Amino acid sequence: MALNWPLMENNITAEDLDDLIVFLKGNPILTQSENVREFEKEWSEWLGVKHSVFVNSGASANLITLAAIREVYGEGGEVIVPPLGWISDIASVLQNGFTPVFADINPRTLAMDEDSIISKITPETKAVLLIHVQGFNGLTERLLKVLEDRDILLVEDVCESHGAEFKGKKCGNFGLASNFSFYFAHHMSTIEGGMVCTDDDRLYQVLRMLRSHGMLRESTDENVKERYISEHSDLSPHFIFTMPAYNVRNTEIGGVLGRTQLKKLDANNDKRKRNFAMFLDGLDSEKYYTDFELEGSCNYAFNLILKNPDTDLRDRVEKMMIENKVEFRRGSSGGGNQLRQPYLKKIVPHGEYKNYPNVEHIHFFGYYIGNYPDLSETKIKSFCQQLNEL
Ligand SMILES: Cc1ncc(COP(=O)(O)O)c(C=O)c1O
Repeated sequence: MALNWPLMENNITAEDLDDLIVFLKGNPILTQSENVREFEKEWSEWLGVKHSVFVNSGASANLITLAAIREVYGEGGEVIVPPLGWISDIASVLQNGFTPVFADINPRTLAMDEDSIISKITPETKAVLLIHVQGFNGLTERLLKVLEDRDILLVEDVCESHGAEFKGKKCGNFGLASNFSFYFAHHMSTIEGGMVCTDDDRLYQVLRMLRSHGMLRESTDENVKERYISEHSDLSPHFIFTMPAYNVRNTEIGGVLGRTQLKKLDANNDKRKRNFAMFLDGLDSEKYYTDFELEGSCNYAFNLILKNPDTDLRDRVEKMMIENKVEFRRGSSGGGNQLRQPYLKKIVPHGEYKNYPNVEHIHFFGYYIGNYPDLSETKIKSFCQQLNEL
């Protein structure tokens, strides 16, 4: 019998929808309002940061974070990003006029390797946009120290790693800002949604305005407001646009779902951790990569990576998953090496993708398979057994 295993299942539950229906029946305001504010507050408490800004996607979180860096720290410079992750990390660097510089990954964490990052630092390096890939912590003490010593900004993309920790503290606490996604397939969902988090008061005010057309009235800093209003007495205080910006707001529906989902996140993550340990335990380590850095990890995905570049085994693995209706993504969640994608190929040197061998291996021999709380032990064990027999 087929395993029937989608990438995500039951992430938004009937219980969540019941809560939403009760809310909707009260004839509420549906645009960004009280529930968005409360969700931001509760999320900040859960993560341990001062400020959070709820937006309509993880990609928008990336976009306004880089736009805020441009606004506060000035235009131009290099941003070190991984070729393994998601298009919006690299797109947001390009869209804001920065130059992306790439670093290969560490196979044990799938995040950029510290030596590789450090080797790419130049006097032009403005920031490192580090992705905590698929639940693994990607930070090291040495990397944080080097960035601090050299005054390089750190942005953590935690879109795939809600609840992962470094040194006992949640990822998303270590940089100038961090980004999360609440798309359906992630650790928790608001249907579509994202969050930018920061302890920096100035950046927070800029982020709030960038989310909403650059409008001054979105700022919660009375000094900023007074200054603009007195300098622009010809303008209505309701319509002062401080910078060219976006509308990437979420809605009260997202806020209500976020609040109900957040209550269950830690318990769900415990189940995911147990599932992932069971999966790795069941795999034949001669055939599949199992030597991940698990400390602090919290994976919403099973990473199935062939140990060797064996195309015959790869074909058998794919055939078995298709027959079993196990949904998978080759190249991990972002489709593998971004440097092979048309949008980047036209701006980087010819054949640049070859310089990132660890990403190349994931591109051709790595898979992402769903890991959700309801997954049964029987399914996981049967899957591992079938993989080992190939
Ligand atoms: C690392 C990373 N960053 C950003 C995003 C974008 O998030 P969203 O799909 O919510 O736009 C994703 C999406 O999965 C992602 O994996």
